[in-house]
Amino acid sequence: MEVFFEGGTGYLLAGSSIFTFTVILVYLFRLEKIVRSESQQIKQNQEALLSVHLLLSGKKPLPQSTSWAAAPDFLMLLVADIVERSPSFIVEAGSGLTTLCMALALARNPTGKILALEHRSQSRAATLDLLSSYGVDQLVDLREAPLVPVLEKKRLYKGRWYDIHPGLFSSGIDLLVVDGPPAVVDPLARYPALVLLYSCLNPGARIFLDDYHRKGEVKIVKAWLKLFPDLHMRYVATSKGLAILEKSGPEAL
Ligand SMILES: C[S@@+](CC[C@H](N)C(=O)[O-])C[C@H]1O[C@@H](n2cnc3c(N)ncnc32)[C@H](O)[C@@H]1O
Repeated sequence: MEVFFEGGTGYLLAGSSIFTFTVILVYLFRLEKIVRSESQQIKQNQEALLSVHLLLSGKKPLPQSTSWAAAPDFLMLLVADIVERSPSFIVEAGSGLTTLCMALALARNPTGKILALEHRSQSRAATLDLLSSYGVDQLVDLREAPLVPVLEKKRLYKGRWYDIHPGLFSSGIDLLVVDGPPAVVDPLARYPALVLLYSCLNPGARIFLDDYHRKGEVKIVKAWLKLFPDLHMRYVATSKGLAILEKSGPEAL
């Protein structure tokens, strides 16, 4: 009788612990959802307030950012780099808000040009509309390039990347922005960028790789640094994580 009673108490205790744990878990999930939605609203309102100020001073604000696009802290560093270094030839993998911001920054240096690669026709059309609505479409050669198998089996990632002709890069790249293909294609989908384009980088060229907070991008950078000892890397704690790499040149990082 005593043994049965003890066992019953044990079951009761275990049952109530599981119940309490489940209630806490449900509560935490709800809390996370609320915090996420609140911070999204704060972000939207900050962007909207900035837009109101710009509109009132006669300037055209940037479109509101989406979860797919590069975050404002990444865009700020990218624009600052272009304003500071005036790169002559910029290549971008994955078009969108980044393309617009780079074109607007480059408009200050009319000798520079941008070649952007995009695998989705809808995204290419949307970026083209964006560029022409800001009057900077002439600065960008926006190519639709399907993703095709590019690397041999022995590489870290033997999947697909943009179908491009190496002759496109003969003038030497000064800035390479890697924000595509998206990770839904493959977590290592951005790996081919440097494997294919490293030899086209000018000395001192910089590479901006977005989404460094993801495991795939960390793995990609590790592999790049091993393959190309001439590269130096700096991590910047932006909201999505940024890796800036530089090919040794006159002014290394
Ligand atoms: C991470 S996004 C970044 C694009 C660009 N650099 C920017 O900041 O806007 C990379 C790719 O995702 C794809 N993409 C963009 N918007 C999308 C959407 N709403 N649904 C699915 N794919 C999208 C496009 O092919 C784009 O090149």
